[in-house]
Amino acid sequence: MEFEVGEIPVVELARVIGPIIAIRTSAYERWNGQKSEEDQRKEAEAWLQKIPSRDGAAIFVAKTGGECIGYLWGNERTSGDFYISHVGVRQDGKRGGIGRALVKASEDLARKRGCRVLSTSTYNRFAGMLILLLSEGFEIVGTTKPEGKTDVRIELEKRLV
Ligand SMILES: CC(C)(COP(=O)(O)OP(=O)(O)OC[C@H]1O[C@@H](n2cnc3c(N)ncnc32)[C@H](O)[C@@H]1OP(=O)(O)O)[C@@H](O)C(=O)NCCC(=O)NCCS
Repeated sequence: MEFEVGEIPVVELARVIGPIIAIRTSAYERWNGQKSEEDQRKEAEAWLQKIPSRDGAAIFVAKTGGECIGYLWGNERTSGDFYISHVGVRQDGKRGGIGRALVKASEDLARKRGCRVLSTSTYNRFAGMLILLLSEGFEIVGTTKPEGKTDVRIELEKRLV
């Protein structure tokens, strides 16, 4: 499948938030089940509140034939540390290189901004993401087990300098 990845200015987030949440619903359906239109609308509202308030927030979308099929958003968690917060690819677009292209786009941006590290976290259940990250040169730098959770949170970093 042919696709292109582009950055969406944070001020234009409202224009793409509907498609992003629809992709997110599809990407996570295996784990979270289907989400109602109402739940998706609430999630879109929450993201519209949350993302612009984060320092150095950036949003990328992958498009095929003019339609959104993948997204990534991240922000500068601390100065010089660009943190990939959320990534998803619509179920029918998975394993076509879109996830990798989105991660690479965030790395290009972090390098352009002069960041020293690209970081993220994931969980054992998202094994595909973990494999992608390791193959892109990320290293596991720590694990935590949030109180009451069964799954370990895996912290990863890729040093850029
Ligand atoms: C993780 C995710 C973003 C990857 O997107 P994608 O477009 O399918 O990934 P790519 O096609 O770029 O995969 C790149 C490489 O990652 C690895 N990979 C990706 N998904 C994999 C899977 N399910 N099983 C094993 N390896 C996988 C492979 O090495 C793959 O290369 P290959 O296809 O040449 O073997 C996508 O599967 C997704 O939306 N998952 C649900 C949401 C999620 O896990 N988000 C991250 C939570 S932290």
